[in-house]
Amino acid sequence: MHRKQGAIYREQVEEAAAFLAHKISVRPDIILQLGTGLGALAEAVEEQVVIPYAEIPHFPQSTVTSHAGNLIFGTLCGRKAALLQGRLHFYEGYSARQVAFPVRVLSLLGARIAVITNAAGGLNPDFLPGTIMVFSDHIYLLPDNPLRGPNVDDWGPRFPDFSQPYDQRLQKTAFASAVELGFAEVVGGTYVCIPGPSLETPAETRYLRMIGADAVGMSSLPEVLVAIHAGMQVLGLSVVANVNDPDNFTPILLDDIVSAAGRAGSRLRQLLSRIVPQL
Ligand code: HPA
Repeated sequence: MHRKQGAIYREQVEEAAAFLAHKISVRPDIILQLGTGLGALAEAVEEQVVIPYAEIPHFPQSTVTSHAGNLIFGTLCGRKAALLQGRLHFYEGYSARQVAFPVRVLSLLGARIAVITNAAGGLNPDFLPGTIMVFSDHIYLLPDNPLRGPNVDDWGPRFPDFSQPYDQRLQKTAFASAVELGFAEVVGGTYVCIPGPSLETPAETRYLRMIGADAVGMSSLPEVLVAIHAGMQVLGLSVVANVNDPDNFTPILLDDIVSAAGRAGSRLRQLLSRIVPQL
């Protein structure tokens, strides 16, 4: 990216942040990015200010029907929060930078914690549909990085450290909350992000498992990279919709993913309701 394009991107982010700052009276401390089948968490937000992505200057529009496109500000379990109901994916044709645009904008409004959720495919054979995986680490396999191009030093360092991408305290809070709720199927693991939209072949599934991933999806990591670059603490959560066994491969159908994520979604909502007040 040329220096000029970098300056344009910065201006766009700052314009979007200024637009939002005028719409809200309270700035968010926490961002929640809601994944497939998880949008219903928005109902729990009090004193809602709902802003469709389409109204926000320069905000990319979600083209996926399983994702609404609203930014919701308000109070969630007593905390000042901004919910991204609907996300953008690399496979839709956006650059990684565009995918992470909303998180960058919200970081400028002062958010310090990002909770990033998605529906994913299980690679770890111990997982079951409905398992909730807390990210302990990740593998970034997109052919584009949201931090590529001129660095804005006011936003974060040129070479951000990733030796500890997921905050330990947030992970512990998630596990302790799961125990309190009696949810057995909450485990830690490594998430790998593939470009999509084609799903994995059996050989690719075997490969992703071999390189150390426990769950695979087509989202979330551009947002995580920008959140960490911006100095935020990140909690990543996947709802495992399907488990892929390379030696006994069955078709992966979007309808199945959406319905499995929706079924597990109520447990994820309960978990988040317990985690958020402790963040
Ligand atoms: N692969 C990739 N992305 C997914 C899957 C999967 O099996 N399930 C849900 N999202």
